[in-house]
Amino acid sequence: MSTAESKTSNQQGSQPTVIYLKDYQVPPWLIDETHLHVHIKNKVTVVSARLLVRRNPASAEQSAVLTLNGSPELETEEIAVDGRPLSSNEYQIEDSNLMIPNIPDACEISTRLAIKPQENTALEGLYKSGDIFCTQCEAEGFRNITWYIDRPDVMARFTTTIEAKKSAYPVLLAGGNDIDRGEKAGRHWVTWQDPFPKPAYLFALVAGDLQHLADEFVTASGRKVSIRIYTEAHNLDKLDFAMESLKKAMRWDEEVYGREYDLDIFMIVAVDSFNMGAMENKGLNIFNTSCVLAHPDTTTDAAYQRVEAVVAHEYFHNWSGNRVTCRDWFQLSLKEGFTVFRDQQFSSAMGSPVVCRIDQVTTLRSVQFPEDAGQMAHPIRPASFMEINNFYTPTVYEKGAEVVRMIYSLLGPSLFRKGSDLYFERHDGQAVTTEDFVTAMEDASGADLEQFRLWYEQAGTPVLDVTGTWNEARQTFTLKVDQSCPATPGQDSKQPFHLPLAVGLLDAKGVDMPLELVGHAAAGASEQAEEPGTTLVLNITQPSEEFVFGNVQTRPVPSLLRGFSAPVRLNYDYSRDDLMFLMSHDADGFNRWEAGQRLGVSILEAMVAQIEQGQPLTVDQRLISALEANLIQAIDQHEDPALDKAMIAQMLILPDETWLANLAQVANVDAIHQAREAARETIADTMPDLLKTVYQKNRSSVDEITASAVARRSLKNLALSYLVYDESNLPLAVGQYESATNMTDAVAALRALVNVGYPAARGAREAALAHFHERWSREPLVIDQWFSLQASCQLPGTLTQVKALLKHPDFDIKVPNRMRALVAAFAMANPVNFHQLSGEGYEFLADRVLELNTINPQMAARILTPLTRWSKYDLPRQQLMKEQLGRIQSAPDLSRDVFEVVDKSL
Ligand code: TRP
Ligand code: ZN
Repeated sequence: MSTAESKTSNQQGSQPTVIYLKDYQVPPWLIDETHLHVHIKNKVTVVSARLLVRRNPASAEQSAVLTLNGSPELETEEIAVDGRPLSSNEYQIEDSNLMIPNIPDACEISTRLAIKPQENTALEGLYKSGDIFCTQCEAEGFRNITWYIDRPDVMARFTTTIEAKKSAYPVLLAGGNDIDRGEKAGRHWVTWQDPFPKPAYLFALVAGDLQHLADEFVTASGRKVSIRIYTEAHNLDKLDFAMESLKKAMRWDEEVYGREYDLDIFMIVAVDSFNMGAMENKGLNIFNTSCVLAHPDTTTDAAYQRVEAVVAHEYFHNWSGNRVTCRDWFQLSLKEGFTVFRDQQFSSAMGSPVVCRIDQVTTLRSVQFPEDAGQMAHPIRPASFMEINNFYTPTVYEKGAEVVRMIYSLLGPSLFRKGSDLYFERHDGQAVTTEDFVTAMEDASGADLEQFRLWYEQAGTPVLDVTGTWNEARQTFTLKVDQSCPATPGQDSKQPFHLPLAVGLLDAKGVDMPLELVGHAAAGASEQAEEPGTTLVLNITQPSEEFVFGNVQTRPVPSLLRGFSAPVRLNYDYSRDDLMFLMSHDADGFNRWEAGQRLGVSILEAMVAQIEQGQPLTVDQRLISALEANLIQAIDQHEDPALDKAMIAQMLILPDETWLANLAQVANVDAIHQAREAARETIADTMPDLLKTVYQKNRSSVDEITASAVARRSLKNLALSYLVYDESNLPLAVGQYESATNMTDAVAALRALVNVGYPAARGAREAALAHFHERWSREPLVIDQWFSLQASCQLPGTLTQVKALLKHPDFDIKVPNRMRALVAAFAMANPVNFHQLSGEGYEFLADRVLELNTINPQMAARILTPLTRWSKYDLPRQQLMKEQLGRIQSAPDLSRDVFEVVDKSL
């Protein structure tokens, strides 16, 4: 029986139980040592475990019953206590738990059992990715491998022996140091020992026919660390970039956080079948190939960036997650929010901080804000859950990172560092809570974060309504800030948040004024170190408060929420002219971009209203002039300011459809799409020459991944996406596709061809798609691109095409990357087609959820997300979406994962 099937069958009839944070109790038993022997054979894998168990002195629990977690597919062969095998009436197995009574205060529990990793399609526990055996134990996968106390506050020293046929599995890996090995009659074994006690979720093992790239890193204190990245032989040429990224991350963590690596060896293994991006298992990270492999021929610039960020993210977990881990799964953001913040800081340091910040905020607003506005809204530290896998969310990760970033802004860099030092020192080797993190930050800095803690408890995106009044006679400027937060499921009313609001004031020439706060509100403000006097970080704590700036001699234009200093929606009644002014003058790069987005939103919202009222569509000329000014700037630039080009490319992207939908009361998907397309087409029609010049001037024969080459490509390909609206520019896209020498250019050209509707493009599109498939048929990650390009095509008829692709021989719903490339890309990156009024998009998604429910529940629940957002849409669509949710709900054998999401969203 596969993991997925067993998960459903053990809850038949009964509803899954809800687990509450308030019910947390320390574990009654602890495990000091875990000795595993994993014997990989053809039909089954035999797992023998020896656990040194003792009563937890910190527990009030008196019972002599030891409860171990397992799962129905453990075929238990033997259970022994202190070497004495138990007969079947000396223990009990119920609901995937093994209960053994009469346990002495300290003893050795040994078990032997068989599992079938080759049938594990849920990809949790021990499973096969192609010919490679690998594990995924976070959050509760270890219980699919052996009986265990599978909770993060039970930490043991692990010794792991893997035994397998040498010819098929020449490489046998686990976390820690390689301490022993041997071979006999074609089989071999290796023993790994991890000196650091760890929870079971950080356990990993790998067995396969792997090659590796080796390197060495010398830590700040002079220790030599051997680093190895493993992959199948045909990918050996795609590991250099990940290796460089890893070494940079190791150095950066020493320099910025004072954190050194702690084992003699650090390994990464790349596998094709993986539910998420990557996993930070102690000493043995396991990665989705999509987050580690990189080569200019096959990898886009965006994918390169992701590799660098994910390699760093998993490495940083070695301290924020592994050395200091989570007490329970409600604390997930303790490690994830902090580690995402750390990887964001790292990415900023490696590239352009402003462009990075724009990317982060775009992601936050397009994936986390909708979550906060929907039925699945939850605080970064949830109070309850049914299935923890459902809480690896943008809220826990991305909003969690924003919360850590706010602490950073409130404390400033040096007190924040004092706080993180104290946190790591105080809690090294412990399993702790988000409360411990905040307390360490307070203790080190003296800051009062009492009210700030509400960020961990309250869900929803706060809204700041800000007004500004200039008093000419007094020469003052008053900012009035009102905060509110919409109700979320289970939280009708909210208390005010404490948040940092970074502000500046621009004078008529666009120069930042020196800021001088007058009046009582000044007590709440602290100055940001980097730009003394011109950016102030206001501490917002009240439902409504006023900040008065003195000596303001001319009417200022306020620059608000600089650097996106808090994860909120900020409303201010800017005129379109003020926005144009901010776009070209704001000293804060992020807010220059944000002003452009605000201008775009304002103009596109007006166009949506025109469509709804049946009026003729008009595009405000100011949008055109603003973009024109940017394009001219791009042309005037010489080779050097590469990063400004990346910034200009960002400025040219209109607010995306999901953000426009999020801002609307009721999202009119069709009108939003139509308005945005009309605006893009007008831009293309109005400045064809300018776009062409930008296109031509930014062509380059350089395929490198340098900041300057990447920036040029992004600008050029953006120009191309506008140019192809005009049929006469079709040859440009065809030519670029044919002559492309890097994947970024090839994919951009293909995307342009796939998305143009005029009949002449049809032949070119089909030829290019066929060629692309043929050329890259042996590169799964490139074929994923091929699927997702087609699934995200904005033209009518895409759903029919997507359904046809389900039957393509390369499609396999069991491989998460492939499933995401087709199904998730359609449901999440193609609003106009997914939300078609016939409801067929919803039905298509529900069918896939039901299909995946038994194969891979974690993935099934994840792709269900778009249907949970029904409350944003018009009534007919709400009805259709709920119908599909209802259909899923009434299906037999729902996994706990899918059940929870459907149940909460109806
Ligand atoms: N801890 C991993 C990360 O953020 C997340 C992860 C990887 C995960 N694989 C998973 C979470 C499987 C749940 C299930 O880096
Ligand atoms: Zn993580």
